[in-house]
Order: sequence, then C-alpha cells, then structure tokens
Amino acid sequence: MLPDDVLASYTAQITSYKESGLGILELGHRTKLFEELFDDTIHLLRDLLQLPDTHELLILHGGARFQFSMLPANHLPAARTADYLESGHFAKAAAAEAAAYGGVHVAASSSESAFFTIPESASAHYSTEPAYVHYTSNNTEMGTQYERPPLPPDSTWLACDASSDLLTRAFDIKRHGCIYATSHKNLGTAGLALVIMRQDLLTPLRHAAPFMAYATHAAARSRFNTPPVSTILVLKLMAEWTVANGGVERMAALSELKSELLYGVLDHSDFYTALVHPPHRSKVNITFRAPTSELEERFQHEAEEAGLVGLWGYRKVGHLRASLFNAVSLESVERLADFMTSFARRSR
Ligand SMILES: Cc1ncc(COP(=O)(O)O)c(C=O)c1O
Repeated sequence: MLPDDVLASYTAQITSYKESGLGILELGHRTKLFEELFDDTIHLLRDLLQLPDTHELLILHGGARFQFSMLPANHLPAARTADYLESGHFAKAAAAEAAAYGGVHVAASSSESAFFTIPESASAHYSTEPAYVHYTSNNTEMGTQYERPPLPPDSTWLACDASSDLLTRAFDIKRHGCIYATSHKNLGTAGLALVIMRQDLLTPLRHAAPFMAYATHAAARSRFNTPPVSTILVLKLMAEWTVANGGVERMAALSELKSELLYGVLDHSDFYTALVHPPHRSKVNITFRAPTSELEERFQHEAEEAGLVGLWGYRKVGHLRASLFNAVSLESVERLADFMTSFARRSR
C-alpha cells in the first residue's frame, strides 16, 4: 500500500506538475523540472540511508530480479565463484541467475527447514576467495530476517538483496559492497531498483555489455535509458513521507512495535501457529497458519470484508502472511490484531 498523503499528492500531480503546464505522466525526462525531481530524490534517499561518500546510489530499471543478473554480469568472471547464502525463494533465484555467468557455491542453506529459518552463520562453508558473498536480508515469502549481516571471509565483500527491509531498519552500509532493493515495498511502486554500490565496484570485473555495466549507469547519473518519470515521483514522495514520519529510526521502532503486536497474538493463541521461531523472525513479513485451510480461506474472506486486504501467503505455500511495510500504520496493525483475536474466538 501507499500512504494516503502520497496517493493524494501523486493523484494531483498526474494532471498538473508544478509550473510545467503538463501532468507528471507527460513530463519530459530532459526538462529542468525532471532534473530537479531526480536530484531531490537522490539527496533525500542518500540522507535517509546515511550513505557515506564511498558508496554511489543508482536508480535503475528492472526491479530486484535485474540486479540478480546485473551483479554477476559485473562481478562474477567465468572462471571464478561467488558464494550465495540460500535463505529462500528469492535467494535461490539470485543464485540461479549468477550461475549463467560463473561458478556459484551455496555456502549455507536453510532448505532443510523449508526456509522457515535463516541459514546458520557458524556452519557456513565459504569457497576459497569468493568473488563476493550474496545474502537476502529479509525473506519476504517465509517471513525470516537476518538480525545482522553474515560475516564473509575478509578477502571478499558482501552483496545484499534488501528488497523488503531497506528503510525499515538501518543498514551498516560500510560493511557492504552492494545493497539493492526493488521499489514496490517500502519505496513506492514496481519497476525500479535502488542500487547502493561501493565506488570501486562500479567498474566491472569481467567484460560486460555497456548496458549491463554499473559504470555506464553511474556515468549517465542513472539516466542511460529514459527514466520512468512518474515512478520516480512516487519514489520521491515515499522518501519525503519517510522523512516526515521520523526517518529510518522511527520506521525501525514502528517495525518492532507492529511485529511484536502480531507475534504477541500468535504466541498467546492455541488457534494460530507462527511459522517462524523467534531468532529468525522477520519484523516485516509475519507468516502464520490457522488450524485448517478452510479456516484460512474464511480468515482472508472475513478480513477483506473488514477492510484488511492482502493477507494471503506466498502462493506456492498457502499460509497466511501479514506484510508490515512502512506504509502500513500501527493503527491498522492494531485493527488486524483485534480481528485475529475475534476471528479465533468466533471460529473455535
Ligand atoms: C526479497 C526479494 N527479492 C527480490 C524480489 C523481486 O523483485 P522484482 O519482482 O521487483 O524484481 C522480491 C519480490 O518482490 C523480494 O521480496
């Protein structure tokens, strides 16, 4: 969802964008107004993310999945190996893309728990001098989250898919060579990726076609191909909203409160089952089950009638899931918690 303020502001700007005489869907990407919009967005995001000068911020097309491919297209030479921590569906998908470029070694996996845990860091077996180590900070579908980044061997650097938790908590940027996130969770609507890349890693380590090279996009200030102007406006509005609502620190505190509220209901219930144990639990995606699949269907149906939408789980697994992205207010999570309690009482 998007916050009401963001939706209202965007809607007004569809028909009239500043003094352009045009709506945002018509504004040319070479106009001064778009230059300003783009620069403001970068400044806002750099501030929010507290990016050090050592790291570049790119706004690229293609969501996170394009980064699954672009990262190895720059940094995985055919004769080398990159290490992947296999913590879920998207972590596996990232490794599958990398395998098209070079060697992929799964240094640790939680597949044995059907990805309802985070792979144990202590038992990770890294390859010799991996090109990089890739992990997924929050696993959106099963509802697990790394409490802190894994510790890669000193000889290499960390790459992180932070699609579902960037801006929901602080990231230690300096510990990462690259962090990327798709745009449709905490950053607006689909289609873009934010890419935070250490300056010295912008240059590809292997031959890369111009479009695939990070250096090309950095030199073109993220506008090598025509940027999606209106999607970038939504991104800017979300960044402004995040600042106005207390920044990343407040978002992290709210994530804590919102998730504690729901885990509290689950842990005190003999009706629902939380699918993830405490040390591995996500503060963003809370996964749970009701006693039968019929009750889960009814839960979703009645929740929708009460204005609580989107509580279905990952489509292949079929559990229930509450996604508490930043735009989901504490009040609406309180309403969900009340609904869950009363549904359990009524259905017993
Ligand atoms: C952790 C994670 N990585 C990657 C993706 C894929 O993002 P996109 O479809 O925008 O490429 C998603 C999902 O939406 C996700 O949750």
